[in-house]
Amino acid sequence: MIFFIMDHLESVRKAAKIHKKVRKEIREFIKPGVKIYDICTKIEDRIRKYSDKNLNDGIAFPTGISLNHVAAHYTPDKGGDYCLKYDDVCKIDFGVHHNGWIIDSAFTINFDPKWDPLLEASKDAVRNVIKNCGDEVCVSELGEISEEIVKSYEIDGIALKPIDNLYGHSINQWKIHAGKFIPGVKNNLDYRIKSGEFYAVEIFPTTGNGTTKLEGESTHFMLKDNYTPKKFKFKRSKELLNLLNNDFKTLPFCPRFLDYKYNKKYDPCIKELFYSEIITSHPPLVDSINSKVSQFEHTIYVDDSKIINLSESDDY
Ligand code: CO
Ligand code: CO
Repeated sequence: MIFFIMDHLESVRKAAKIHKKVRKEIREFIKPGVKIYDICTKIEDRIRKYSDKNLNDGIAFPTGISLNHVAAHYTPDKGGDYCLKYDDVCKIDFGVHHNGWIIDSAFTINFDPKWDPLLEASKDAVRNVIKNCGDEVCVSELGEISEEIVKSYEIDGIALKPIDNLYGHSINQWKIHAGKFIPGVKNNLDYRIKSGEFYAVEIFPTTGNGTTKLEGESTHFMLKDNYTPKKFKFKRSKELLNLLNNDFKTLPFCPRFLDYKYNKKYDPCIKELFYSEIITSHPPLVDSINSKVSQFEHTIYVDDSKIINLSESDDY
């Protein structure tokens, strides 16, 4: 009998290859007049096409298409018909996994060159944080580097700010947020990056006030690691819980994924699982109205002596 255990790096490299291929293919499709819902389904359909049969077909989390002052956690709902406009700053954050090993990587698209410095600030900060990352580096050093770089960029004579409550994060198998954070601002956290860890490095420069708040209906949900089984009011809540355990584990999901996979509506059951404290909910995070936020994000692996940027390609 042959035992074949693919190591973590090999798995995550498979996911990275798909991420790069998908974003390359959809790039030219993203222009003013295009429905953001169509961008989203194009990305997810392509991940399904290129991934081995895997949990949720290789999709690691709902595709984020967050516009302007919306910084994160927005995904267009079925039938959402918003079309991109020339002035929009559009952040596309999608994830691919192989055996639960996740690539979390994002980029921003603008059409009006006025917003170029906003994008450049994020790219520059992410690049430098990664460059300064390594075994035993303290996350407070990295926050300071990020803040200094972002504040050196300006639009209309006003300096940009990094958002202070959205963080880069460690990643583990099936866990998009594995417990350690890399803030994009000065901070007093005293823990260190360790070799053998995976991180998503992401920095959000903004023209707004620099702090996000939760706003609007949540489309992102996630099964908890530990929960107490409950007696449900709706019979199908138990059915949904079984499906989540089998097909998603602790990867984030949205109602659209359930429609696609099971061709059934589970909306009341999602609510019941949430109120039973079995799943968590993650509503959109927004900065001040009329502001613009950008985001670039890479997934890295901390090797003994170097950093491997897994999601880097010739586009970003
Ligand atoms: Co992301
Ligand atoms: Co992330």
